[in-house]
Order: sequence, then C-alpha cells, then structure tokens
Amino acid sequence: MKLFIDTANIEHIREVNSWGILDGVTTNPTLCAKEGRDFREAIAEICAEVAGPVSAEAVSVNREEIITEARELSRIAPNVAVKIPMTTEGLAATKVLSGEGVKVNMTLIFSANQALLAAKVGAAFTSPFVGRIDDTGHDGMELIDEIVTVYDNYNVPTEIIAASIRHPLHVIQAAMLGADIATVPYAVIKAMVKHPLTDRGIESFLKDWEKLQDAIKVGG
Ligand code: G3P
Repeated sequence: MKLFIDTANIEHIREVNSWGILDGVTTNPTLCAKEGRDFREAIAEICAEVAGPVSAEAVSVNREEIITEARELSRIAPNVAVKIPMTTEGLAATKVLSGEGVKVNMTLIFSANQALLAAKVGAAFTSPFVGRIDDTGHDGMELIDEIVTVYDNYNVPTEIIAASIRHPLHVIQAAMLGADIATVPYAVIKAMVKHPLTDRGIESFLKDWEKLQDAIKVGG
C-alpha cells in the first residue's frame, strides 16, 4: 500500500520524506488554511519536495469554473493531482479534465455509488473518508471493503485513497482490505513507527553492549 501524508505543513512533509517512506501528499482547504500562507506557493514547494502525486483542492462550485481552476492548479507542477468534491458539477468537470490528462482525486466520498461514479468519469483517485463515517457511529472501513470489491469486479484503474485516517489501526485495516493508498496525518505516521517493545529492546541491547565493553576493558 502506498503511504501519503495528509498535511500542507512543509516541515512535516520534509521530515517524513527524509525517512524514505513517502509516496505522495494530500491537502484540503482546511489543512492549507492552518498553514496561513499563499496556497499556490505552498503547493509548488510541496511538489518540489515530493516526487509522487500532491493533491490540491479546487474550491469552485460550477463545472466551468472547476475546469478553469483545475487547469491552473495542474500547471503548478507535473505531479499535481486536483481534488474535486463529489457533485454532479464535479463529475462533469472531472470527465473533461481526465480526458485532457489531468489527474483528478474525487473527494468527500461516503458511498460505493459515489466511488463508482468517480471511476466512470476517469478519476485517477477516489477518497473515501473513513474517520468521518466512524464519527457518525458507522464503520468507515466497510466502505473501503465495498469500493475494493466493486473496483476489483471491473478492473477499475482508479486508485482508492483511504482518507480521514485517525489512528494506526485504520492504516492496518486499509492495507488488509486492499486500499491502494492511505493518506495519513503526521502524528499517526509517527505513531506507526513506535512500539514500546522496540524501545525496550533497544534500551536493553544498548545496556548489554555497554556491559560487554566494560568486561573487555577489565579483561584487557
Ligand atoms: O484530506 C481529507 C481527509 O483526510 C480529512 O480528514 O480528519 O478532517 O476527517 P479529517
């Protein structure tokens, strides 16, 4: 499974990218607003840092405006993917844009029907929001399972991005269900690295190594 980071924070992106595990980035208007800087400049900087796809969201509502905005965003860098929300206008715009070779990430996906429609208009990615479904008292991972089955039935090339990931277990579940990508917040990526037994193991190995050095000194 490919691992994307879900943030517009360049320091966090740089840090995780330096570990060699990062396949791409997703942003949304809320994440960009948190950074309080020029949106296009931020996207350009992220695209220069990361080789994989970087999702930048279009905020226009009608199809002609979405198309114009998406074309502009995709000119920022060759690895920009334009996020477009799942609406009838978004579908119509995605059909045109994907025909032009623009990579579209259809977002705010909360049902397998929406994912099926995103695939029909040629979206490169589809983003089901699992955490937000969990928040309503339903199981967001059931949606990933449904979309994986539907796409597998028809060999759909659209990649499934498990989004709105809230904790490390979500990442494991998405991988077990066969999501193509999980887009994960910085804090959750850091939590994926950690295990108390790893820390305890390192501590005891280092202590035993020190003991050996002392014994060698005494012996010599
Ligand atoms: O980028 C979209 C998605 O990952 C948002 O997550 O935590 O705001 O539901 P969240």
